[in-house]
Amino acid sequence: MAFIALQTFSLVHLLLLFTCTALLSSHDEDCLALFEFKQTIFHQNSDAAGFQKFDSWRKVKSNISDSDCCLSDGVVCSYTGHVIGLDWSGSSLNGVINSSSTLFKLVHLQMLNLLMNNFVESQIPSEIARLKQLRSLDLSYSGFNGQIPNEISHLIQLSSLDLSWNPLKLQSIELIDCQLQDEFPSAIFHLQKLKYLHIRNNSNLTGSLPEFHNNTLIEHLNLFSTGFAGIIPESVSNLNHLEVLSLGRCNFSGHIHGSLHW
Ligand SMILES: *[C@@H]1O[C@H](CO)[C@@H](O)[C@H](O)[C@H]1NC(C)=O
Ligand SMILES: *[C@@H]1O[C@H](CO)[C@@H](O)[C@H](O)[C@H]1NC(C)=O
Ligand SMILES: *[C@@H]1O[C@H](CO)[C@@H](O)[C@H](O)[C@H]1NC(C)=O
Ligand SMILES: *[C@@H]1O[C@H](CO)[C@@H](O)[C@H](O)[C@H]1NC(C)=O
Ligand SMILES: *[C@@H]1O[C@H](CO)[C@@H](O)[C@H](O)[C@H]1NC(C)=O
Ligand SMILES: *[C@@H]1O[C@H](CO)[C@@H](O)[C@H](O)[C@H]1NC(C)=O
Repeated sequence: MAFIALQTFSLVHLLLLFTCTALLSSHDEDCLALFEFKQTIFHQNSDAAGFQKFDSWRKVKSNISDSDCCLSDGVVCSYTGHVIGLDWSGSSLNGVINSSSTLFKLVHLQMLNLLMNNFVESQIPSEIARLKQLRSLDLSYSGFNGQIPNEISHLIQLSSLDLSWNPLKLQSIELIDCQLQDEFPSAIFHLQKLKYLHIRNNSNLTGSLPEFHNNTLIEHLNLFSTGFAGIIPESVSNLNHLEVLSLGRCNFSGHIHGSLHW
């Protein structure tokens, strides 16, 4: 009996030891990755209110590479010590974020907010897909350009995505079978480069068609089986590039004018 008890104790002890070591090192890894990312950033305007947040790390300990990142402003850690939230919005950060950025080692991140910074010449790397736990991603007004990587669609936990006010090449939006709720933002129809919008089978997604201008590039518009309703505007005839229009199983009324060019 005593022998078994002792064995059990040792096992538990051993497990605890392993767990603690694992926790400690994962925490250190996250902080190190964050520190290395910080090294790639330089700043222009250290007077910016937001910059104090980014720089608060320095005050935690003189040897910043050795300090606990969880204690610095804008960094949120889980009780296990993983970095799960990063809010460096409005920090006037300048730098390049690319595929080798150690930011993408923070695989436990649930919230990433880099709104209002200056990552000029940066494209959103496909490595963003490594941050599988992301629920909220805000890269708006941050100077990202070029193509949005397809891999962003691998972020299946994501419920909030803001990429606005960046010179991006957003041509295509596909959100099929996504159980989207509430009102579809009509501003999406007015994205100047939008060619392809496919949001089939989101029955709880409401919305209506806007007035279309003759400069819209939309080629493919599929709203099949959504809660879209209202009158189909005459201005659909302004969609000069239209090739596919699917409005079935919605609640539209009225009819489509004969003036559509096919
Ligand atoms: C800061 O910490 C790192 C990592 O622990 C260590 O390698 C380095 O020597 C330290 N630097 C100073 C100046 O103490
Ligand atoms: C990423 O950017 C850094 C500068 O921040 C640069 O040193 C590195 O070579 C770049 N890596 C790639 C793969 O472009
Ligand atoms: C519609 O989407 C739901 C939820 O994602 C899915 O379960 C269902 O199979 C889809 N229906 C069709 C007809 O594709
Ligand atoms: C739509 O909303 C109803 C009521 O809230 C809910 O029961 C249903 O599961 C939702 N359907 C989808 C596909 O999200
Ligand atoms: C688009 O509309 C503008 C103003 O309403 C008009 O001047 C222009 O000729 C139209 N262009 C085409 C291609 O229909
Ligand atoms: C369509 O409209 C009818 C009556 O106005 C309503 O009962 C129904 O819920 C609507 N369906 C959708 C998908 O919005």
